[in-house]
Amino acid sequence: MSDRRVALVTGASRGIGAAIAERFARTGWDLTISARGREALDDRAEQLRAHGGRVEVVTADMSDDDAIGSLAQAHVAAFGRCDALIINAGMGQRGRIEDFPARRFDKLYAVNVRAPFLLLQQLLPTLRATAREHSAAKVVALASSTGVYPEPGYTAYGATKAALINLCETFNLEESENGISATTLAPGYVDTDMTEWTKDAIPAEEMISANDIAVLVSSITDLSRFAVVPNIVVTRPGTYLHRA
Ligand SMILES: NC(=O)c1ccc[n+]([C@@H]2O[C@H](COP(=O)([O-])OP(=O)(O)OC[C@H]3O[C@@H](n4cnc5c(N)ncnc54)[C@H](OP(=O)(O)O)[C@@H]3O)[C@@H](O)[C@H]2O)c1
Repeated sequence: MSDRRVALVTGASRGIGAAIAERFARTGWDLTISARGREALDDRAEQLRAHGGRVEVVTADMSDDDAIGSLAQAHVAAFGRCDALIINAGMGQRGRIEDFPARRFDKLYAVNVRAPFLLLQQLLPTLRATAREHSAAKVVALASSTGVYPEPGYTAYGATKAALINLCETFNLEESENGISATTLAPGYVDTDMTEWTKDAIPAEEMISANDIAVLVSSITDLSRFAVVPNIVVTRPGTYLHRA
């Protein structure tokens, strides 16, 4: 079996997930990458394989329990280990409590909280086995500054990200003595497709870069089993400390 470390990255076809996958591939990791759209994933996989590692592609919609189960199974069947589980796929939608549709709330909750829970649960035996054999395994989940500092208009999104932070902290209490720990990253606006709607007001070049997030992920996955990092807030310069 290969000595290379292995990561599963969800939402890896573009934006933050693509930057994370790129950094892993460049630094000698093998990967499973996932998202819904096959074509963009295949293109991404080809670019990642140019770094010489193995890249498996699995399409999965994070609002579909069966697809999440198949993704976890496919990853384990392909590699038999998981040094880093990167729970990055997520959806955003703005709207105030006054008129935010309850069905949209359910959808956000499914993708941003239920899917991370299922991935943690289904990959737990493999994460534990990896930590036993290779000393540590890490989980990094993309939350949001709005999960720590609520903002008007982020009714459902902020609530799901707060739940994700709580889920990962509970995971650490239950699993960190087994060598596995989870870190949530809670950034303000990152320059990706998700923030396209606000780039008239906040120029892309003044946002956090996807590469900044990839650097953090890479550092976290290099930490030993004795360093447990619960949540990291990443803000923009200036007076945005408590705002996205
Ligand atoms: N951009 C920001 O300002 C910002 C700030 C804080 C936190 N975040 C969080 O960071 C993560 C990544 O955001 P991003 O800005 O990189 O987003 P993005 O550019 O919109 O990319 C989202 C990625 O996730 C996949 N995806 C979306 N919905 C999915 C679903 N239901 N099932 C499976 N895959 C899905 C997309 O591919 P497909 O469409 O093909 O599925 C794509 O690969 C999210 O969790 C987001 O909430 C972003």
